[in-house]
Amino acid sequence: MKKKSVTLQIDRSPAWKKLKAAAKDGSLKLTRLFTSDPERPPHFSIATEHAYFDFSRQLVDRKVMRLLLQLAAAAGLKDNIAGMFSGRKINVTEGRAALHIALRNRSNSPIAVDGRDVMPEVNSVLARIEQFSEKVLKGEHLGVTGKKIKNIISIGIGGSYLGPEYLATALRPYARDGMNLVFIANIDGTDFFEKVRGLDPEETLVIVVSKTFTTAETMQNARTAKKWLLQGLKDHPEAVKKHFAAVSTARDKVISFGIDPENMFGFWDWVGGRFSATSAVGALPLSLYLGFKNFKKILEGASWMDQHFLNEPFDKNIPVISALLDIWNINFLGYKTRALLPYSQGLAKLPAHTQQVEMESNGKSVDIEGRPIKFMTGEVVFGEPGTNGQHSFYQLIHQGRQIIPCDFIGFIKPSYFSNLDQETHVTHHEELMTNFFAQPDALAFGKKDEYLPKNFSGNRPSSSLLLDILNPFTAGLLLALTEHRAAAKGFIWGINSFDQFGVELGKKLGVKIREEILKHHNDPAYRASNKDYPASSITLNAFLNSKLPE
Ligand code: F6P
Repeated sequence: MKKKSVTLQIDRSPAWKKLKAAAKDGSLKLTRLFTSDPERPPHFSIATEHAYFDFSRQLVDRKVMRLLLQLAAAAGLKDNIAGMFSGRKINVTEGRAALHIALRNRSNSPIAVDGRDVMPEVNSVLARIEQFSEKVLKGEHLGVTGKKIKNIISIGIGGSYLGPEYLATALRPYARDGMNLVFIANIDGTDFFEKVRGLDPEETLVIVVSKTFTTAETMQNARTAKKWLLQGLKDHPEAVKKHFAAVSTARDKVISFGIDPENMFGFWDWVGGRFSATSAVGALPLSLYLGFKNFKKILEGASWMDQHFLNEPFDKNIPVISALLDIWNINFLGYKTRALLPYSQGLAKLPAHTQQVEMESNGKSVDIEGRPIKFMTGEVVFGEPGTNGQHSFYQLIHQGRQIIPCDFIGFIKPSYFSNLDQETHVTHHEELMTNFFAQPDALAFGKKDEYLPKNFSGNRPSSSLLLDILNPFTAGLLLALTEHRAAAKGFIWGINSFDQFGVELGKKLGVKIREEILKHHNDPAYRASNKDYPASSITLNAFLNSKLPE
């Protein structure tokens, strides 16, 4: 018997219909919105202790904002957020909670999964990471030849890499003296061999980061790393024990790989890969690189944003308003691509991390009850730090036929420390911020020119987020903002933002292809049959033949 639907799909709600009508009206012109409402900048912005969010240049008026808030109410957003924070199994397809907020629950208030408080385990893993990282940093945990560990190689991919890499890049100025952290993700051997070049195995600790400990790329890179270390350490019997650590939920697999369980740091099935940067996934490499105290500050920044998301009324809630504006742009104005433009070199890796959080979470076509969805979900996110992007793809953003809503991020203070800035000129940071302020206005208001190639139509939406300085706290805050913005959209669209079945099929097909390549590897005369691989047999056999098809 067909299951009875429990929830109303959001495109059937009155607010959705009214938003459709408001968007059709097409009368929202930023120039006019600003001149007709002197209170627009303060009204269309959110001021908090740690971040100022200005969305006055989005194509919204007070009525649209009211309707968007009604949409959030119709979707039961408040209840969904509360459910997420209390450990409800909102990842329905996998029967799991999505409790990354417990990883930085600084108040330690109990949070139960299956009737059991998860906080003691969260705290115990953090305490072990603190101890381990301090031992390494103080030179109490040495390599087998007695040398101090200086290099950390973190091997992992997807969520076991992107979040920590974003944080490590953002916080380079906070790295402990002499410590070096590199990430190896890609199965392409180039990634491995280029990253280990110049590293001394005697001074290197390899961390294998994998929730499942089965991911093909990570396991192959881990096996190669083992060989690299053993070769470099002349097969020392303690090489793996002293030079390998693991972060995983799969203890048995870590042990059978040969890693000392003392050097294993766990997490739990209620932490999704792309939401795992504040678990041991980020805690171990980042505590070794930045020191545990700095990692704790990342947790504090994330926790601040968690509390803001949970407690602030929606009209003053940065992740909620950001999500609603995304929905307005995607579902009602038809703008399905978003540019993330941090005016900060340190945030160079935030777009890549955001891509996974947004596109793996919300690239779905069925809702939480398994019903097909008729409206657009997910969005394409791309970005580069300013000002580099300005000399590249901004042309399309300013004058192209596609409208691409932009998110600018800027900091009041620079993150570099230098006395080289010239006294008679603006500093590097002042010059950077000149652009941070100029670009949104150029997009919003344009410039009329009779000569059409030089005409700027304007009316191109953007938001700007201003923070004090890029430091562990604000990097953690931005991490949590990214997570909650994606989750809030998923809740409103009624989809499960916490599974990722879409990545499975390609992996499965890869198993068969790998078998074919292995057969050829062992018998160079072997060729794949056209019957089994009708679509790819020409290119597959060209690869096996080492010759381009004729
Ligand atoms: O292929 C997608 C994925 O499952 C991501 O969701 C995950 O972050 C990544 O692979 C890595 O998985 P694991 O941590 O299990 O190696």
